[in-house]
Amino acid sequence: NKGEFAHYTIKEIFEQRTSVKAATYQEEHKIKVFCDTIAAAGNIIVTGSGTSYHTSLITSMAGCRALKKRFEPVMASEFKYNMDSIDKDTVVLAISQSGETADVLSATKLARAAGAKILSIVNVSTSSLARAADVSLAINSGPEIGVAATKSFTGQVSLAYSVLDRISGGRIGFDRDAVSDKITKMLAGSAAIERLVNVTMPKVNDIYLLGRSIHFPIALEGALKMKELAYVHAEGIAAGELKHGPLALMDKNAVVFVLNPDDKTYGDTLSSAHEVKTRGAKIIGISNVSNDIYDAMIEIPKMENELLYPLVEVIPLQLFSYYLALRNNVDPDFPRNLAKSVTVK
Ligand code: M6R
Repeated sequence: NKGEFAHYTIKEIFEQRTSVKAATYQEEHKIKVFCDTIAAAGNIIVTGSGTSYHTSLITSMAGCRALKKRFEPVMASEFKYNMDSIDKDTVVLAISQSGETADVLSATKLARAAGAKILSIVNVSTSSLARAADVSLAINSGPEIGVAATKSFTGQVSLAYSVLDRISGGRIGFDRDAVSDKITKMLAGSAAIERLVNVTMPKVNDIYLLGRSIHFPIALEGALKMKELAYVHAEGIAAGELKHGPLALMDKNAVVFVLNPDDKTYGDTLSSAHEVKTRGAKIIGISNVSNDIYDAMIEIPKMENELLYPLVEVIPLQLFSYYLALRNNVDPDFPRNLAKSVTVK
């Protein structure tokens, strides 16, 4: 039931107002074993596919910072080629909305055979991946019907952050009510994003998204949403890599999103924005501080800890992709050639 919404995708985007909170309510005994397993691990690998791989990147970066130990993100489809370090001191944390993604299930099977412990984060608590794990936590987002992962992404990140906070004594500072309020405020700006797509944006064929550190996975996630929902070529780029190649693509036809809140990446990412601006690209800044360099700006709130920015930065990118899909006459709920759950390898 889509209720007041035209599509499941936009309904699910708006459900993030509450789903980020739901993700963090867990049974005490389960979350305790889950956290103890991560705390005791010698070697932690985080795996997933598509959007859930982007959660794996964020979880790995945040895990390294909060727990001062190495987390390695590995794409589920690449897992079988990267098995050499897996042993009985390894914990594999597998992340999947559906819990039925074949590449993820196959990764956990191989890891288990090599002696690793398996943890999982799923949305569907009765799924194969939930059953394959030693301990599985569910994000409680409710059914996600739209093929594009939206509320499951922020639910996964919220749950991963509350796990890391619990182990580290609060080093991330994830507060479910504060995050939910900030997401609600971002969603209240949806009409401005719709206007940006329909009024301000030129016809666009190539979109680039730049970000560093914890913003880089959001650059990848935003690009994935734009490809999948609006059928537009989009690329997430670690901003520091521009000069190693992608700068050659920048000209007046490019639209570049710059993920640039005033954290420790700010100055470096602003320099990258200048590099692309000089080549004539149109720049959309996503930031809590304005700057004349942006042709358009999407304001995000200041976050207490920079690791929390992904949870608000992704919202305008989801909305932008949705409205761009409508502008391009694409059904956002069911993109061509894609399935909600990829059960083949
Ligand atoms: O159910 P899963 O989280 O395992 O699905 C993984 C990917 O297939 C999925 O995230 C896909 O990339 C989405 N359609 C992206 O929006």
